[in-house]
Amino acid sequence: MTTATQNPNTEAKQRVFDLMLTFVKSQCLYVSTRLGIFNLLDDQGQQSVAALAQQTKTDPERLYFILRALAHVDVLEEKPNRVFAPTETSQLLVTNKSPSAGHLAMHLIEPAQWDAWKVLPEALEKGVVPFELANNQGVYPYCYENEWSKETFIKAMSFLTGSQVEGLLEAYDFGQYDTVMDVGGGQGGLIASIVQRYGCKGILFDLPDVASTAKQYIKSQGVEPARIEIKTGDVFEAVPKGADAIVMKHFISAWSDDDAMKILANCKAALPEEGRLILLQSFVPDIDEPKTEADGIMPGIFAVQINVATPGGGWRTKGQFQALFEQSGFQLKRVIKTNNSLSGMEFSLA
Ligand SMILES: C[S@@+](CC[C@H](N)C(=O)[O-])C[C@H]1O[C@@H](n2cnc3c(N)ncnc32)[C@H](O)[C@@H]1O
Repeated sequence: MTTATQNPNTEAKQRVFDLMLTFVKSQCLYVSTRLGIFNLLDDQGQQSVAALAQQTKTDPERLYFILRALAHVDVLEEKPNRVFAPTETSQLLVTNKSPSAGHLAMHLIEPAQWDAWKVLPEALEKGVVPFELANNQGVYPYCYENEWSKETFIKAMSFLTGSQVEGLLEAYDFGQYDTVMDVGGGQGGLIASIVQRYGCKGILFDLPDVASTAKQYIKSQGVEPARIEIKTGDVFEAVPKGADAIVMKHFISAWSDDDAMKILANCKAALPEEGRLILLQSFVPDIDEPKTEADGIMPGIFAVQINVATPGGGWRTKGQFQALFEQSGFQLKRVIKTNNSLSGMEFSLA
């Protein structure tokens, strides 16, 4: 009998080569997005590598290797004479129009994030947060103290919200509430969409660093800023009262179970008896569930990134979240399934 090690099949070999070189694809994507290559192609149409190198003040020979690789994975189209043309994929990475997948790519692959992966073996041995070991501070303070990182992070989050919110609004009736508060709501894209669609009142709660620019963003989404009260503070200190429903999207996943329980206790104290807490998340699939969501996101892979960058358990399974919330005095009412990787769980006070 031959074993897989003696005679590995072609598919398995290909998978291993692809996995070991996937970081190259990430880096090519990062550097091209950061240099604005996709913006130039979008604004000016196809161009030679020499023209692109001149405009980005880079070495044309090295840039050619990178752009050719991107053409090999269908991000760009390579034409004769080292000319590159934009594609449907490169269009998604344009960063000079509105929040896009390009901002998310730059946030996830920026050097401070990359540094966290470099110290992963040491962080695993010590049981510490890799990002904090590498950068001597947490990911939020890091982002908020560095202008480029802050802007990129904020736009990355706005992009994710923008691409997932429609499916959520279809799947869940926020009209049953008088006032909805988004805790850790970033620029307010989600709460603006909820208020717009369902006519309820909104509260946005986040750190002062982020909330200071939220008013402008909410306005840019076509929502009268007066319809959303912006409150700032630290969720570990207290959560403001005034809402009959709290939503938390991709927020609690950044925290450890102990931290999450402190946050949930503060949410509980802020809600009326009949109040609801709606957890909005991508959930890591259970062993027998599909691993890839309809929008192509693999929560089990993304969860590692969150876990390397933050103190949290990363994205958890629905069962893990349920146990965490039940320990904190909440009771699961229903699971909300949307048409994308953002799902939800509605909890009442137990
Ligand atoms: C991963 S982002 C998610 C943002 C938004 N909910 C979304 O899905 O786009 C986490 C948010 O939590 C906020 N945050 C982090 N620590 C916080 C704290 N201690 N108190 C309040 N908000 C905090 C951050 O500023 C950021 O906007």
